[in-house]
Amino acid sequence: MLRTHTCGELTEDNIGQTVILCGWVAARRDHGKLIFIDIRDRYGFTQVVITPKPYPAAYETAKQLKCEDVVRITGEVNVRPAKTENPKIPTGLVELFTHNLEILNSSKDLPFQIEDTIEVSEEIKLLHRYLDLRRSTMLEKFIIRDKLNYKFREFLNRERFLEVETPFLTKSTPEGARDFLVPSRINPGMFYALPQSPQLFKQILMVSGFDRYYQIARCFRDEDLRRDRQPEFTQLDIEASFVSEEDLFKLVEEMFRFVFKEALGIDLTIPFTRISYQEAMATHQSDKPDIGQGQYRFLWVCDFPLFEYNEEEGRWNSAHHPFTAPKEEDIALLGKDMKNIRSRAYDLVLNGVEIASGSIRIHSRDLQQKIFSSIGLTAEEAQQKFAHLLRAFEYGAPPHGGLAVGLDRLYSIITGCESIREVIAFPKTQKGICPLTEAPSGVGQRQLDELNLSIKEKPEK
Ligand code: AMO
Repeated sequence: MLRTHTCGELTEDNIGQTVILCGWVAARRDHGKLIFIDIRDRYGFTQVVITPKPYPAAYETAKQLKCEDVVRITGEVNVRPAKTENPKIPTGLVELFTHNLEILNSSKDLPFQIEDTIEVSEEIKLLHRYLDLRRSTMLEKFIIRDKLNYKFREFLNRERFLEVETPFLTKSTPEGARDFLVPSRINPGMFYALPQSPQLFKQILMVSGFDRYYQIARCFRDEDLRRDRQPEFTQLDIEASFVSEEDLFKLVEEMFRFVFKEALGIDLTIPFTRISYQEAMATHQSDKPDIGQGQYRFLWVCDFPLFEYNEEEGRWNSAHHPFTAPKEEDIALLGKDMKNIRSRAYDLVLNGVEIASGSIRIHSRDLQQKIFSSIGLTAEEAQQKFAHLLRAFEYGAPPHGGLAVGLDRLYSIITGCESIREVIAFPKTQKGICPLTEAPSGVGQRQLDELNLSIKEKPEK
């Protein structure tokens, strides 16, 4: 057994016990014949005392210790002398009197200190992300993230949603960004696309009769990065059959109320405020205004236009994605008055940030085909890109709808972070680079040959 306790759990109840702790040296204070170290692990800190007598070997080792060395300490739990207690931490009434001290591994001098606030460039922090994540302010974000994920799962599981994993190596799923492509070695010249979202698979699961689906899903989008955008990010992706907008709003509101209460102890007021896209634009000149009630201001924005005009290409694009249903009463305007066709799409806005987006979907093959041709896809192009969806719609597709919550955005709001990079364990920089692994990187000629690929011209760097 390497340890008997963690660094966050010894209290007065353990006084007199011999215990073993493992952790990192967070601080060392040398008072000559008395050395103190604070030893840290994920669970907290414990103060350790080392004296030359009666355990001189431990004392000699302690003299060489540096911050972030990994140690294993055997000792006796003592009460701290009066006036040296630290009531701010759970272990603050006790200290460990060392019998044996082992250095399990030593650390080089640090590029930055493991402290709550540090003045270091993001490049350096991400290069040494393992050190950055040792800071308790960082760890806390991932503990909250884990708790929230767990509560979302608990709620959806209770509501009889099935978590289903959908493929990463797939065909393009358009969500308005470029695809990341993966060459296929065994099908030379062919590429998989990484999913921009699980959109088509979740719809196909509805055709399969799964009725209620969810997934904490990774999505990949090659687009310009910002504070609230990463090339890979996580959605809480939801789809349900035989539902209206009202059913989905109620479900999502109850889900957020449950999760906020259980994970954060916060009471949310539901139903959330609602506003139409038209009213939001007319009154607030924004489709994600910061209005609503309470600390956390949730707002539904509904009735988005189905299409938006693409000046550059001189054609209409889907405003959400091409699988969104038009409002029944506006279908007659297709091909006649495209600008005024309203969709059955909705966004959920939190404190002025779009955190979720969804719609009631098209489930008729004919209507889907019409929408594809309205955005300039020929029947052949539609067939080439979306044959699987169109075919599925021929075999009894139920009415269905859903939405996806951008979890990184939601969690950065909850933890008060400037950027979603802070709630992602290993994020990319604004230039799409991972300083830790140095991805993306070049590949050798042999790998290119195996994939039947050649690089057109050498990039500058
Ligand atoms: P949409 O593309 O609007 O919808 O995405 C849903 C939510 O995901 C978050 N999001 C992002 N977060 C971080 N980095 C990004 N690059 C990024 N892009 C989007 C946002 C957004 O609201 N399939 C549809 C959903 C559906 O219709 O059910 C979809 O993906 O918070």
